[in-house]
Amino acid sequence: MPKDAIGKRAEHVAIIMDGNGRWAKRRGLPRLAGHKRGVETVRRIVEACPDLGVKYLTLFAFSTENWKRSDDEIAGLMQLFRNYMAREAERLIGSDVRLRFLGARDGLPDDIIRMMEDLEGRTEDRTKFSLNIALNHGGRDEITRATRRIAQKVASGELKAEEITEDVMSAHLDSAGLPDPDLVIRTSGEYRISNFLLWQAAYAEYEFVDALWPDFSEAMLSDILNRFGTRERRFGTAVG
Ligand code: IPE
Ligand code: IPE
Ligand code: MG
Repeated sequence: MPKDAIGKRAEHVAIIMDGNGRWAKRRGLPRLAGHKRGVETVRRIVEACPDLGVKYLTLFAFSTENWKRSDDEIAGLMQLFRNYMAREAERLIGSDVRLRFLGARDGLPDDIIRMMEDLEGRTEDRTKFSLNIALNHGGRDEITRATRRIAQKVASGELKAEEITEDVMSAHLDSAGLPDPDLVIRTSGEYRISNFLLWQAAYAEYEFVDALWPDFSEAMLSDILNRFGTRERRFGTAVG
């Protein structure tokens, strides 16, 4: 189908990358083998996005609830994040990709925070494509931290209580400056949002797919995006 035969495109796509553990379990492999395959899917999907018309991609990589997992799994995931960032640092030189991390920095290892800040700083003026990685993200935690910062401004007189608007809330979230996601995709057949982008995805369209994240493909994403183009988004207006 030619591009112009498709309806409106999703500019900002957010993905809950779920199912790495089950992918590994089905093969009798350790959970970490599933996470490693998951990183390969990340690379494929990130690369496919610009050609599919996606300008912003937000990936849920680690939630504030994922600290409940075993020490081994957490350490393995942190090592994968380090490797990913080190490799991306190489690859991003010369590309027009802006990288941002959403989530609480508190609680993450210091060297990971330094790598995140370095990548953010080095790519902040890039404009073609924006990759956001939600790492130690929880929607409730993000809203709570934003509220705390706003309360501090009110207490110091920098802001009046009656000046707190939805825009002010948005501007105090980790995602400040990013458009809200148009579409949220969750893989692995689970029908829940697991505390992801609670504020930002208030009016997103949702797609739940059965594929486990390591099996998620560019073709599946392309199908979902085409379906998105046929959806009527009403935002509270009457059916027309
Ligand atoms: C998603 O895969 C990756 C993270 C949450 C870090 P899971 O590890 O949750 O995989 P399942 O849900 O156990 O299959
Ligand atoms: C959501 O997946 C978090 C990420 C994809 C990073 P989980 O596997 O942690 O979610 P639950 O536990 O099934 O809700
Ligand atoms: Mg899971």
